[in-house]
Amino acid sequence: MAMKFLVTGGAGFIGSNFIKYILNEYPGCKVINLDKLTYAGNLDNLIGISKNKNYKFVKGDICDPVIVNRLIKDVDVVVHFAAETHVDRSISDAGTFIKTDVFGTFILLNSAKNSNIKKFIHISTDEVYGSIEDGSADEDSPLKPTNPYSASKAGADRLAYSYFQTFRVPVIITRSSNNFGPHQHVEKLIPLFTTNAIENKKLPLYGDGLNKRDWLYVIDNCEAIDFLINKGVEGQVYNIGANNEKTNMHISHTVLKELGKPDSLIEFVKDRASHDRRYALNWEKIRKLGWRPKHDFDTALKQTIKWYSENRWWWSKVKKGKFKDYYQKQYVKRWQGIS
Ligand code: NAD
Ligand code: DAU
Repeated sequence: MAMKFLVTGGAGFIGSNFIKYILNEYPGCKVINLDKLTYAGNLDNLIGISKNKNYKFVKGDICDPVIVNRLIKDVDVVVHFAAETHVDRSISDAGTFIKTDVFGTFILLNSAKNSNIKKFIHISTDEVYGSIEDGSADEDSPLKPTNPYSASKAGADRLAYSYFQTFRVPVIITRSSNNFGPHQHVEKLIPLFTTNAIENKKLPLYGDGLNKRDWLYVIDNCEAIDFLINKGVEGQVYNIGANNEKTNMHISHTVLKELGKPDSLIEFVKDRASHDRRYALNWEKIRKLGWRPKHDFDTALKQTIKWYSENRWWWSKVKKGKFKDYYQKQYVKRWQGIS
């Protein structure tokens, strides 16, 4: 049977990749995309499917119970991506994170409680475990979020679980590592450094540049979410990782090498407050169920850098907009902080 999806935050990075993946993979299914179009939402991410008869865009806020109740009535699966997602912004303005990530998730879950949905996929993050100095976090590791973004995501994550325990809402929770790929907002490390390098601008590397992240190609994440819709067990949490642990310094050098730019573009700037040193996931649980990432990191990173090189029209619009003010304020302070 062709499924009907309600995707929240589908105009953002992972959500837009997921919608395109689903429409392509299951031509009979229907997708409603509920997105507020914050600074991070971008309808250019969905060019190519906007006229697809199985796809519908609704501009709206997940904190609005009227819209959510109306849309959820008619769907089988909710995939909840919508969130404020940038750690640096959560440090300067935590309120919107609490509102969207926690309260917005509550509105969706409450609505799901009174609906006939068959699955509620809650997209959480590996950041909820906090910094992992040694080894890796499995799904039973303690949650130790260290910034307002990860704390709000940890709250939403446990709220989703509570709705499974208390009301039997068919919740499945994913905690993935750092995604990369096309259509990621230029505020994030890989798109920022790639587009800055293309423009011969400095790459502002926080602290000593040795913080580590485990990088996951966005299409692998989309496949993992699809896999869990079909094979995941309700009430369970699944880590989604890829064993691509890299320092930010390594990423910077790779981007510069790939674009033929000098290492002198790297500039060390003041560190992020409460900057998690390392994220590392144990994702045996989903691996044992039968999923593993298909994309090789080096090849996918090269393809991603190529995508930004070839799609200047996409990111130059974003960089010229409100982002310009944000960037100037953010990095003027960071550059001053180091000298
Ligand atoms: P993003 O910032 O690119 O997109 C977020 C989207 O949510 C935007 O389209 C925005 O307009 C929308 N949105 C924000 N507030 C909303 C609201 N109140 N109502 C409706 N829509 C709203 O985010 P992303 O990087 O694609 O992340 C998607 C999800 O995946 C988030 O829940 C994030 O916490 C999680 N996640 C991201 C990563 C990553 O590396 N990007 C890793 C793990 C988990
Ligand atoms: O781990 C999953 C998380 O990954 C998601 O839950 C978040 O939504 C997503 O934003 C991402 O968080 P990070 O903080 O890891 O991503 P970001 O791209 O902001 O930073 C990655 C690393 O690069 C981090 O160690 C900080 C560093 N950095 C980032 C920026 C923007 C820099 O050194 N300079 C920069 O200008």
